[in-house]
Amino acid sequence: MGFFLLWPGAGGGRGGARRNARYTPLDTDGPLPWEMVRSVPAIRRAPHEFLAGLVRRYGDTAAVPLPRTPVLVLNDPAGVRRVLVDNARGYGKATVQYTALAAVTGPGLLAGDGPTWRSHRRTLQPAFHHGSLDAVAEHAVGAARALRAEVDALPPGRALDVVGAVSRASLEVVGRTLAAADLSGVAPRLVDAVGEALELVVARAASPVPASWPTRSRRALAAAVAEIDEVCARVLAERRARGVAPDATDVVALMLNAGMGPQEVRDELVTFVVAGHETVASSLTWTLDLLAREPSAQRRLQAELAAVLGPPGAAREPRWEDLPRLRYARAVVDESLRLYPPAWVITRRALADDVLAGVPVPAGTLVIVSTWALHRHPGAWPAPEQFRPERFLDAPRRDAYAPFGAGPRQCIGRDLALVEEVFVLAALLRDRAVRPVPGRRAQVEALVSLRPRGGLELFVEPRQ
Ligand code: HEM
Repeated sequence: MGFFLLWPGAGGGRGGARRNARYTPLDTDGPLPWEMVRSVPAIRRAPHEFLAGLVRRYGDTAAVPLPRTPVLVLNDPAGVRRVLVDNARGYGKATVQYTALAAVTGPGLLAGDGPTWRSHRRTLQPAFHHGSLDAVAEHAVGAARALRAEVDALPPGRALDVVGAVSRASLEVVGRTLAAADLSGVAPRLVDAVGEALELVVARAASPVPASWPTRSRRALAAAVAEIDEVCARVLAERRARGVAPDATDVVALMLNAGMGPQEVRDELVTFVVAGHETVASSLTWTLDLLAREPSAQRRLQAELAAVLGPPGAAREPRWEDLPRLRYARAVVDESLRLYPPAWVITRRALADDVLAGVPVPAGTLVIVSTWALHRHPGAWPAPEQFRPERFLDAPRRDAYAPFGAGPRQCIGRDLALVEEVFVLAALLRDRAVRPVPGRRAQVEALVSLRPRGGLELFVEPRQ
């Protein structure tokens, strides 16, 4: 146990009942070092469940005994708001999570910090302006058309490989938004390379071997990153070849017009593929799974679609103007993001001393927010495990709900993702229904985002 620090001068903590006082400077209870060691297999298998377990056992704050750095697992809604919004400048992204991600994305918008981040965010914001969302809706309907064709091409009685199908759909939308380009030619290579790189990076973050050692997985990571670089270079060259008007607002055009260099452009492109493709695919996957498992919610959604788009036999495709009337569809997406937040963990490093949920937090503390646990907070969500889109119909939630983060580092693609998901769902389900494959239940695998372990198949059937 030598690598666990004994914190000098640690007392009994609040009320003196703290078991872990010798192992952390944080004045709140948590697991002991040997309990952590015993939990390693559970952490590897289901880290989101491990964090939820800590919250169930210790409440809104738990101190985790790790070497060198104090670690606070924070599930207090007001504390989370302080870290992400009210005192956002007091927290940075120099954490294992983002350092590992930067091995693939470079210091792009998601993993970067400081003045470069601020300037890139300003440059790229116009690509995500509300005025460009009608085009997103159109791309989403186009992507859903391809998805429907995939369903139609299945042999009778065959279920759809949902993960593969929605991944292709979300990549199509991201590609058109990023580069005003059809990425379908390069998509499979790009998706595979990004997926492989991310898996290797997650493994690397959990590995005790120094990052510089030339192990097999590190060589594989270098190869995957080289592949990503090559595809990005091609996307960029093709976009340049088509000419970049000074008022173009796709992401690549904005970067080129702002004079960003090739490496910076590459980093942001990869960031958008990682952040904007896998997350939406994850969310659409779980949304379809939840609807298949909850026929009453699916029926209510179908009733809304019939009212807005026409009955199944004569339903038209959804259009941008329909959005205000697709309220239940939006609530379905919101509730699905509550139960299966693709970004299931958000981490920050305290840059200065602070106090969170009554716990003094020294500079350097690693703060871990599990949206998976926060979105199941028993004080904020009645019957938290149940899929009830109705919760979101009346008022948008701010407390204990952060699927897109919050504050200055809130997801730049939030509105894009919500519009995309609502339109893919509406276009797909206007005359079809999803049904589970009997006897199969998807298990959650928490990697960079939440995925069904071993994939997910559903029947997608015509609806009369
Ligand atoms: C359902 C889909 C999505 C989810 C759940 C999601 C979630 C998140 C979360 C939680 C963060 C904040 C991370 C933090 O505070 O540490 C974030 C940031 C980010 N997301 Fe998303 N995201 C989604 C879709 C997208 C899309 C479609 C794009 C782009 C096309 C995108 C691009 C980004 C970028 C660039 C950042 C970093 C923003 C910054 O720090 O300035 N995301 N996302």
